[in-house]
Amino acid sequence: MTPPPARDLTVLGIETSCDETAAAVVRRGREGRGAILSDIVLSQVEDHAAFGGVVPEIAARAHVEALDGVIRAAMREAGTAWNDLDAVAVTAGPGLIGGLLVGLMTARAISAARELRLMPLNHLEGHALTATLTDGLGFPYLLLLVSGGHTQLVAVEGVGRYRRLGTTIDDALGEAFDKAAKLLGLGFPGGPSVERAACRGDPRRFALPRPLKGARSCDFSFSGLKTALRLEAEANAPLSDKDVADLAASFQAAAVDVVDDRTRAALDVFLDQFSKPPTALVAAGGVAANQVIRTRLTDLCRDAGVPFVAPPMRLCTDNAAMIAWAGAERLAVGLAPDPALPARARWPLDEGAAPVVGAGKHGARA
Ligand code: KG4
Ligand code: ZN
Repeated sequence: MTPPPARDLTVLGIETSCDETAAAVVRRGREGRGAILSDIVLSQVEDHAAFGGVVPEIAARAHVEALDGVIRAAMREAGTAWNDLDAVAVTAGPGLIGGLLVGLMTARAISAARELRLMPLNHLEGHALTATLTDGLGFPYLLLLVSGGHTQLVAVEGVGRYRRLGTTIDDALGEAFDKAAKLLGLGFPGGPSVERAACRGDPRRFALPRPLKGARSCDFSFSGLKTALRLEAEANAPLSDKDVADLAASFQAAAVDVVDDRTRAALDVFLDQFSKPPTALVAAGGVAANQVIRTRLTDLCRDAGVPFVAPPMRLCTDNAAMIAWAGAERLAVGLAPDPALPARARWPLDEGAAPVVGAGKHGARA
């Protein structure tokens, strides 16, 4: 498809794939620079805290109740009229199907009522392209996406061109942090509470495994680490505050070692496949908030001579600005998706990559 003539593009983005109800308006200048005109994120974290994890049915109902108001707020704050918009971009997957349907149906209604182009997008593409919005980063770069739902290393070659180099074969890293927190009686979401407890603990007290460390692939695995943590917790029960802190610190140290090792492996594979280093290593997803992980990635990049880019936390975790931006980037290069695309709970970013787990009737797990 030939790209349309260069002009400013303004896109409304909608994101409801997990436990954040979000809407944003983003403008892409003809020269390719992005500006966030509004970015509203309503977290449901308190609705789910009592359950120690996101409850899909509660999430979907909360999206239904909140989404109209969130979109209205995003349009008001941006000061954009409906006919200033070029498109409505919406997350169509992967994610919790109830929430995805709420977002997609709302976007479809807006697009019909206002005669706007509908762009159903892959949530992971939003994460993948965020660094071109925040840092004007050039291609190709290496993305480490570590969140509650995803753990992937992806070579981002261009808009719509993603090569998955590695992924988790079981749990996502954020999920492992959340389960560790639950096991240790720490709060939800687990990542921040494990990180806090770990600050007071001895990371060498428990020798927990580093799954897949040294493997030739760039894949991740965390279920063995989770089981080892549970066995140590059971063997030392009842746990004192000191035990909890030491277990949290030992768990985090193992997780960070794994991230470090797998990312180094991916940098090697990248170099092999592209015959040049990436323009940067980009970290995204909620787990990228972890200071110990950030420090380790900074060191790793210094060793490798590759810049380290971590977009502001607000844009690393789930938001709609990244969806609006991905829509604008696609429009700019003439790659608008089919407006009839359905919501999909599973939707790998790199459709060519072999499914790793859950390759059942829902297709490959992202
Ligand atoms: O990207 P995100 O906000 O939502 C999605 O999962 O899409 O990521 C949330 C995940 C949770 O699993 C949370 O425990 C984890 O990110 N997380 C952290 C930290 N802050 C959030 N994990 C480790 N250390 C942190 N400081
Ligand atoms: Zn996400």
